[in-house]
Amino acid sequence: METTLIILKPDAVQRALVGSVIARFEQKGLQIVGMKLMRISQELAATHYKDHASKPFYAGLVRFMTSEPVVVMALRGVGAINVCRNLMGATFGSKAAAGTIRGDFGISNSFNLVHGSDGPEAAARELSLFFAKGEVVEYSRAGDCWVYDATGGAPE
Ligand code: RTP
Ligand code: MG
Repeated sequence: METTLIILKPDAVQRALVGSVIARFEQKGLQIVGMKLMRISQELAATHYKDHASKPFYAGLVRFMTSEPVVVMALRGVGAINVCRNLMGATFGSKAAAGTIRGDFGISNSFNLVHGSDGPEAAARELSLFFAKGEVVEYSRAGDCWVYDATGGAPE
């Protein structure tokens, strides 16, 4: 099982798409193990996006992400990091494939609705930035025996 950080960006909140976007992840079978509405501080945005600090879009990205509240989620599942990136679609809304979150709900390149960790190291780092100890909740779901085939002993 992997856990990944998902952020529903300010455009998703302002466009009242929070429920629709969360539904995509839930319907896939991912488990919500952490979730909250929050404002991202300048400091947190700078830490979260430190790898983009030298990019031309960095200042605009930080301005966008700190402008209005976001919903942050910890999502768990087998291969959750890549599963979520595939559900999100390509970075730019104008290019993202139909059927993906970015492809179906947006057309802007910068206001692209959703962030997802891009690998295991990023996921661990980002989850610890956004969720304090105890805010990611362990629980089992009764329906998981139909989400995964666990008849071999482990979910696959
Ligand atoms: P994210 O980190 O938000 O999940 O998105 P990503 O991996 O698909 O894209 P990344 O290259 O990490 O870029 C981070 C975010 O910066 C904005 N961006 N704008 N205008 C531009 O050229 C540009 N390039 C990137 C997007 O909001 C992107 O999601
Ligand atoms: Mg990224």
